[in-house]
Amino acid sequence: MTTSEHLTAQRPIGSGFGTRSTTADVLAGVDLTGRLAVVTGGYSGLGLETTRALAGAGARVVVPARRRATAEAALADLAGVEVDALDLADLDSVRAFADRFLASGHAIDILVNSAGVMACPETRVGPGWEAQFATNHLGHYALVNRLWPALAEGGARVVSVSSRGHQLSAIRWDDPHFKGGYDKWQAYGQAKTANALFAVHLDRLGRDAGVRAFSLHPGEINTALVRHVSAEERIAAGWVDAEGTWSLDFKTPEQGAATQVWAATSPRLTGLGGVYCEDCESDAVLVGDDIVVVESARHRLTRLRLPEEAVRVEAVAHRTQRAATEVAPGRLQLDVVFQAPAGQKLDTRYGPSTRLLVSSTPPELLLTGEGTGTDLARELALNPEVGEGVLHVSAMAASCDDDPANEYPACHVHQQDWGVPVVIVEGGAARLPLVLAGMDRAAEGA
Ligand SMILES: NC(=O)c1ccc[n+]([C@@H]2O[C@H](COP(=O)([O-])OP(=O)(O)OC[C@H]3O[C@@H](n4cnc5c(N)ncnc54)[C@H](OP(=O)(O)O)[C@@H]3O)[C@@H](O)[C@H]2O)c1
Repeated sequence: MTTSEHLTAQRPIGSGFGTRSTTADVLAGVDLTGRLAVVTGGYSGLGLETTRALAGAGARVVVPARRRATAEAALADLAGVEVDALDLADLDSVRAFADRFLASGHAIDILVNSAGVMACPETRVGPGWEAQFATNHLGHYALVNRLWPALAEGGARVVSVSSRGHQLSAIRWDDPHFKGGYDKWQAYGQAKTANALFAVHLDRLGRDAGVRAFSLHPGEINTALVRHVSAEERIAAGWVDAEGTWSLDFKTPEQGAATQVWAATSPRLTGLGGVYCEDCESDAVLVGDDIVVVESARHRLTRLRLPEEAVRVEAVAHRTQRAATEVAPGRLQLDVVFQAPAGQKLDTRYGPSTRLLVSSTPPELLLTGEGTGTDLARELALNPEVGEGVLHVSAMAASCDDDPANEYPACHVHQQDWGVPVVIVEGGAARLPLVLAGMDRAAEGA
């Protein structure tokens, strides 16, 4: 089945807003008097700006907070804002907050799921869940489920604050809680992928009840979110220079919160849902049975994932129903070949634009070659004593429009994830080629 058979293409809707638009810009002329909004994380960073903006436009805003006193201090000067208690990493706390809210008898018009944690050291919550997945996704998932009667009554918009960081990982169906080894950025990426996918499916389930859902990337903003990122990592990522000055590409909190406020309130989005927004534009989440493409006007991600039913985990063994590739014992040359779509070329303006992430189930299958690198080729050493397993390969490449007349050609990010079942046999292949085919805009729209 080809990609285009699965998908309905969506296009930016021409909101008139952009990268530098602020919450004040998107709310100009919008009156939210009589509306009730719930904003998780609504006392810090983007959530705080969202609370400020919605309350400023007349909405009553409930801010459920993990640190109640901190929230009350941060919101003290805002009229129409109430603080309640909520720890998204604790399902009992989620249930208790939702029960209190439902007992109030109020309907919800807007729910902005802005709370989140990024790249924290390995932390386990509840029944051993990985903390970023549990907080960013599972807690919000439970919250929406518990608040459903109030959301349905209000015909609410639910805004799921994802991130471009979703490019770092698909859902790790076989090991969502990183039992086989923790990677803080993969964990963030998985949680943010879950935020986007959650909006897609919630919208499908909710639209008949008038509940519509959106996800978004807010941009890059210097907030408390970066607390777990070291100074060295910030420099390596290009966020700050050696003197600690933040990149001019960063948005202010008012600009960063604009997309979630726009998604929560814009009349231009009436009748739409499930879409992924960036820079106050509705770009696209395109969904099929086993394929998800998250696209925005500036950046594009193509993500393929295994259908759930194709993966079974039995004790420590991972089985798929796909045919296994026979590979030779010893060295295995993995070659991901990127094919730029017509009219585009590999984007190397800012250095290597490619990334390869390799892991295996079971982890002992890979003797060497595990981890992340910027080269799309990798020599792997497989453990013949393990004999069989699945190689997880995630490859990313950025391309830009091949247009010499355009000084700043549009950038497109292409990513594909593979689960490759392998069995080690004498005479098997010594090379594993995988084609990362960049998506062609013309073919997509067909
Ligand atoms: N800033 C960026 O550049 C950027 C980029 C892309 C996406 N995002 C997304 O934007 C959202 C907001 O981030 P931000 O930049 O505004 O970060 P922030 O300033 O750190 O705010 C995050 C909020 O989430 C709350 N929170 C964390 N764990 C919680 C828990 N277990 N229960 C309840 N609340 C919890 C925090 O509460 P405490 O203060 O009590 O910890 C805080 O209020 C996040 O989902 C993030 O992934 C941000």
